[in-house]
Amino acid sequence: MGESIYGLKRTHRCAEIGTANIGETVTVMGWAHKSRDLGGVIFIDLRDRSGILQVVVSIQKGQELFAKANKVRSEYVLAIVGEVVKRSPETVNPKLATGEIEVIASELRILSESETPPLQIEEDSDVNEATRLKYRYIDLRRPDMQKNLMLRHRVAKIARDYYDSNGFLEIETPMLIKSSPEGARDYLVPSRVHPGKFFALPQSPQLFKQLLMVAGYDRYFQIVKCFRDEDLRADRQPEFTQIDIEMSFVNVEDVLTVNEGFIKKAFKEAMGIELETPFIRMPYQEAMDRFGSDKPDIRFGLELVNVSDLVENSGFKVFADAVKNGGSVRAINAKGCGAKFSRREIDSLVEYVKAYKAKGMAWIVVEENELKSAITKFFGEDEVKAILERVQAVPGDLICFIADRNEVVYDALGQLRLELARRLNLLDKNDFKFLWVTEFPLYEYDDEEKRWVAKHHPFTSPMDEDIHLMDTDPGKVRAKAYDIVLNGVEIGGGSVRIHSQELQSKMFDLLGLSKEQAWQKFGYLLEAFRYGVPPHGGMAYGLDRLIMLMAGRSSIRDVIAFPKVQNASCLMTNAPDVVEPKQLKELHIKTEG
Ligand code: AMO
Ligand code: AMP
Repeated sequence: MGESIYGLKRTHRCAEIGTANIGETVTVMGWAHKSRDLGGVIFIDLRDRSGILQVVVSIQKGQELFAKANKVRSEYVLAIVGEVVKRSPETVNPKLATGEIEVIASELRILSESETPPLQIEEDSDVNEATRLKYRYIDLRRPDMQKNLMLRHRVAKIARDYYDSNGFLEIETPMLIKSSPEGARDYLVPSRVHPGKFFALPQSPQLFKQLLMVAGYDRYFQIVKCFRDEDLRADRQPEFTQIDIEMSFVNVEDVLTVNEGFIKKAFKEAMGIELETPFIRMPYQEAMDRFGSDKPDIRFGLELVNVSDLVENSGFKVFADAVKNGGSVRAINAKGCGAKFSRREIDSLVEYVKAYKAKGMAWIVVEENELKSAITKFFGEDEVKAILERVQAVPGDLICFIADRNEVVYDALGQLRLELARRLNLLDKNDFKFLWVTEFPLYEYDDEEKRWVAKHHPFTSPMDEDIHLMDTDPGKVRAKAYDIVLNGVEIGGGSVRIHSQELQSKMFDLLGLSKEQAWQKFGYLLEAFRYGVPPHGGMAYGLDRLIMLMAGRSSIRDVIAFPKVQNASCLMTNAPDVVEPKQLKELHIKTEG
């Protein structure tokens, strides 16, 4: 049971009151964060989304008021009228924004009561995530969660303002669309009126935004939900939000310039951080060679070094064979780690890289007058000298080598690089390092399906100078595709698109789609390509990932109000759930088991 607020009107949010209000009578409403009875005086910390305000209820103000305050428990919802006074110097709380004042209550109403909450409303609580998600509405009262969602709101607002002022129109695209799985699995929605037929929820508005370019809208953006039925990770949700963008009459550089402008503005206005633009543009191949990753974390060095040419004729068969078989041998100089790491720690690195398919990891510890290593015996003195020179080794260093197929070498050393950075504490989450990775391969080979698949999506244009390789050497064709990477996380990506029907058909052809299949799946796009298509391109930011990094969190669940867990379910509502047989019947669906 609760009282009504009849006759009361809130004048301020809790933390909006300060020394400027001293002497005023205010009306505040919020949750009782804590209350302490000091005998004759009760202190209530009243909380709302703005922060905490100290309210004082004194027995001198009347028995009835005091008795009511005595009933207040954590998370009761209260309305309080009172006078703002300056705290005496010894009770000032510098930790609170409102720490110099307090409100002396003259009226208190209990608007609603609360049972003991299943989790404490405190910053960075260590309650397990399942409890947090089951009682998400309580978890969301925590100040750090409120800060995250306010930041998210701010950045979305900045995006709307920024794109609007650069000539973009926000246009909605449909949520019930035709299924065209490419990349992830689709979420399907059965049709009641068309027995046996299904809509899909969009994995992104890709084709619709391209059609908006055909329709002459020139510059489009949308803050939009996307749905992908894929295995979840800390930075992946089945439904997530994109800031989706498309532009006409542009080349790659035009798209990058406009879109990095948004990031610059968002960091300045939401975080007070001045970023330097243009961001680095790094071709994919350079990113792989230097960092072993297409989403390099460039907050620290520990770059990869190719030593293949120095070891291919050596007596160490593992190394020589890797190079002869078309692979490579690359190294990371873990600066100072030779002196820092115990033998056990080095062994654990060897185990670590094995998770990324490396068969082993050879290493050399460089000491003042000797080398510790199991492999130097296989090399001549000059070979060892050349290797150490190439990796710029000095005493104290640990040199780690992987020999294998290039994919394995890149992946294992790329991951080793990150692991070393974690162990060496090189990752400062307040350091924001952006780059664009450009010139991605157009295709990648799918070992399972034994065919070429589009690395970004099948509407991405090849680079003009590589079109001639499409038939002869598809693996070498570079695309007008790019990702934006922040601290090792891909926060967005896009491409300049194919805008000729001929090239689009050729692309489908190479991806193993027959003419009929291509028309069945993407006929509406191919048809549109007959009626005047402007050259166009765009990208999409993953809003959740961007906010996660801005907020310094390691999971996107912390910046989504009501996220799903690992197995794609909602612990609060218990979705997905069974439905009435009647509903299934209407949808012409029979389930098994
Ligand atoms: P892409 O598939 O690269 O491109 O997606 C763009 C960005 O969306 C984010 N993202 C995700 N975030 C959370 N959970 C997920 N499951 C998830 N999947 C993707 C990533 C990613 O960089 N239509 C193209 C864009 C274009 O070409 O214009 C597209 O969707 O941050
Ligand atoms: P082995 O001759 O198998 O005893 O290996 C000698 C050293 O080479 C060990 O430290 C192994 O971890 C390492 N090693 C084995 N395979 C590879 C590989 N593919 N790349 C790098 N080092 C390797």
